[in-house]
Amino acid sequence: MPEYDPVADLYDLEYTHDYDLPFWLALAGREAGPVVEWGAGTGRLAVPLAATGHDVTAVELSGEMVGRGREKGGAVGWVAGDIRDAKPGRRFGLAVCAFNSFLCLTSPDDALAFLRNAREHLVSGGLLGIEVSAFSPDELVDPPGGPQLRHDLTRPLPDGRLDRFSVSRYDAASQLLQMRLFYERYGPSNVLESKRAHDLTIRITGRDELLLMMRLAEFEVEAVYGGFEGEPFTSASDHLIVLARRG
Ligand SMILES: C[S@@+](CC[C@H](N)C(=O)[O-])C[C@H]1O[C@@H](n2cnc3c(N)ncnc32)[C@H](O)[C@@H]1O
Repeated sequence: MPEYDPVADLYDLEYTHDYDLPFWLALAGREAGPVVEWGAGTGRLAVPLAATGHDVTAVELSGEMVGRGREKGGAVGWVAGDIRDAKPGRRFGLAVCAFNSFLCLTSPDDALAFLRNAREHLVSGGLLGIEVSAFSPDELVDPPGGPQLRHDLTRPLPDGRLDRFSVSRYDAASQLLQMRLFYERYGPSNVLESKRAHDLTIRITGRDELLLMMRLAEFEVEAVYGGFEGEPFTSASDHLIVLARRG
């Protein structure tokens, strides 16, 4: 079962941010279309990109996430498939792989398969933008005594609230970060109504590994940023953004 199927109903409650949208909108305005988003989730970026007039295709593995994206309406062309081998049937001027969808590829072979597929689906001169979280060494080291439960977020709901807690363990050998997420949904008078646990695994990828993989997949790296304002990438950056072209 795709990892995101069991938590698709929570995705839009958890991830309400849109600080990254102006960056992708500006890129879509600058580059030729059409646009593809690889690993599009519920269309957090794809739907507003399409709403501003761009011709957008969204590729997503989880049928539940696709279903929620489709419910939002708009002109997004949804493709249920795996970004390693999905064939949307056309080529794009701009490809976006944002908010850690790339890190869901849990081996270098999977990452390369995606990059090669993404390249195949770009027109000559087309641009691929990848954005992932940049983790500091502190975030990847267990505290003394072992992994600890962390409070990640609280989201107010019309009839209560959603809390998320997590425990993470990082294996430096495989670069896999395994997260167990605990969701608690409270009703209007603070009564716990439901809870569930969910496991997610991502593969932490640093700047130079990502650049090397992009070169192996025959991309020409054009820019590396550490934030959505085009800041330089440093050891203090929270984000790693790479833009690369199909030559
Ligand atoms: C953290 S979400 C990001 C979604 C979206 N890019 C956003 O910005 O909100 C990662 C998404 O990538 C999808 N994904 C993971 N592996 C995938 C794969 N091999 N093929 C297609 N989608 C995948 C997941 O199902 C999930 O919806």
